[in-house]
Amino acid sequence: MKITIFGATGGIGAECLRLALAAGHEVTAVVRDAGRLSLEPHHVMVADLRIAPDMKELTVACEGADGVLSGIGPRSPKQDRGVVTEATRVIVAAMHAAHARRIVIVSAAPVSTVPTPGNPDAPRRDPGEGAFTRYVLTPIVKRALSSVYADLAAAEDVLRESGLDWTAVRPPRLTDKPGTGRYRTAPERNLTRGHTIPRADVAAAMLAMVNQPSTIGHAIGVAT
Ligand SMILES: NC(=O)c1ccc[n+]([C@@H]2O[C@H](COP(=O)([O-])OP(=O)(O)OC[C@H]3O[C@@H](n4cnc5c(N)ncnc54)[C@H](OP(=O)(O)O)[C@@H]3O)[C@@H](O)[C@H]2O)c1
Repeated sequence: MKITIFGATGGIGAECLRLALAAGHEVTAVVRDAGRLSLEPHHVMVADLRIAPDMKELTVACEGADGVLSGIGPRSPKQDRGVVTEATRVIVAAMHAAHARRIVIVSAAPVSTVPTPGNPDAPRRDPGEGAFTRYVLTPIVKRALSSVYADLAAAEDVLRESGLDWTAVRPPRLTDKPGTGRYRTAPERNLTRGHTIPRADVAAAMLAMVNQPSTIGHAIGVAT
């Protein structure tokens, strides 16, 4: 397949790059600093998606892509407020220009209970969460990282309105442990007792979902 990866120098993005190359895919990486790539993709485009990116070049980066993966996220919750929504808008525009259809981005488990204009009926409590997560963990992280989750929820809305074949994966706390290959997924809900997941497993799930039509148009909970 031809795979385009945005944020290929980030934690999940670098794992997407590693797995896509290992699987023999032709990979285009879109990054801010090519010098920080851990492996060499077939094609590289340098762009900061917040600083007037060259839409012609981004379109070329998406042309012919069977799947576009985005691991873009805030390096700093304060300074990078809104970055995922802005970046997702730019990626969607480039994909439309390139006639590319399939996109998978990273969101987060607590977003399942964040209502938005595009998802007004988000449940107050996620059905996959046990009592500890529901009443203790989620309220604490949602208070601490409210701007991050608002950004990710708005990015999901950008996808809902995009007309593309989209999927947003919603992992819980990320780790840098080796991938297990034994992650669980669930549409529109989080996973019971799924408190963590290695970044490598999120990347594996994203790559697999490119070819899973049942995930199109959904936010998918993913956890080990
Ligand atoms: N941490 C957790 O436990 C957790 C849990 C659930 C979900 N999440 C979400 O998972 C996502 C990915 O996490 P991660 O740990 O893989 O992220 P990360 O390592 O911080 O990587 C973020 C990526 O986004 C890129 N980026 C940021 N701003 C950009 C811009 N303006 N233009 C282009 N690229 C930009 C970064 O590029 P540079 O390399 O150039 O900086 C980097 O490649 C985030 O959205 C995060 O909110 C995190």
